[in-house]
Amino acid sequence: MKKIGLLTRDCAGVNAAIRSVVRSAVCCDIDVAGVLRGYDGLIDGDVIPLDRQSVSGIINRGGTMLKTARSQRFCTEQGQKQAVETIRNNNIDGLIVIGGNGSLTGAHLLATRYGIPVVGIPATIDNDVNGVDLTIGADTAINVALDAVDKIRDTVSSLERIFIVEVMGRSCGYLALQVALAGGCEEVLLPEQGFDVEMMCNEIVAGNTHGKTSWIIIVAEGTAKAQDIAAMITGKTGLETRVAVLGHIQRGGAPSAIDRILAARLGNFAVEVLLDGATDCCVGLKDDRLITIPLEVAIQHKKLEVESFYKLIKILT
Ligand code: F6P
Repeated sequence: MKKIGLLTRDCAGVNAAIRSVVRSAVCCDIDVAGVLRGYDGLIDGDVIPLDRQSVSGIINRGGTMLKTARSQRFCTEQGQKQAVETIRNNNIDGLIVIGGNGSLTGAHLLATRYGIPVVGIPATIDNDVNGVDLTIGADTAINVALDAVDKIRDTVSSLERIFIVEVMGRSCGYLALQVALAGGCEEVLLPEQGFDVEMMCNEIVAGNTHGKTSWIIIVAEGTAKAQDIAAMITGKTGLETRVAVLGHIQRGGAPSAIDRILAARLGNFAVEVLLDGATDCCVGLKDDRLITIPLEVAIQHKKLEVESFYKLIKILT
């Protein structure tokens, strides 16, 4: 193997992972071709050479220096064939894909349908890559959301209000659950669970009669709209509510130390296993050990441990 390609999605820590991949490869005299704009760039042949110098000064920057896109074209056979042509035309012997479920599904397809040697590095704020403990970007996102919740708490408790904070997570409540526990929030609504507005309102009213004066309810994006939850609570209790939708600020920002360290370790390990001949797999940390798992397993649904967390949130509020 003489040249590897590198394709990314975005979240905090991805630049640190790019740096680790590039410098680890350079150390082994391997060239690196950076693919711009994710799978769209792979289809269009947008590839740039990356060397030790080109990844300097990015370890602390959010996003991805390679840019990214949600590619519709890669879902078509024509798009996939064009992507494979780019790989062949640029003499790319193996590909490292940094991203979440969608990116890793694409990587699995390139390996199985087109025989491209591919290794994935899990990076998504959702932490929903099956088989690994933590994905790059999740820790930073928790801290960004937590910082916002702490600030909201200052005003919530001053004004004695009910606040509904919507965090990211279309089909996964990981971020919501962690933020609710770390932020001392009263309730959390997850896509993995149904929710009972009636019961929640009864709890709020009962709490208020016992002297509780403020509430922060975390709702994951994929559960329901924060505005709708707020309207339902006000409608049923007559109490004043406010809403904050945190949105994409959670996916940006300087990566935390945990994400940078994870990115450094996984980037280096991905190069190592790719050069060793591994393919159609994803690197990750499990119980603080570097492991590889088949991409087929990594992209399966990851079960979120809800019950014990939810119980703890309720005990502690
Ligand atoms: O998968 C990561 C994620 O940030 C989810 O939490 C969120 O639901 C989704 O991506 C948002 O996607 P987009 O940036 O395309 O709107």
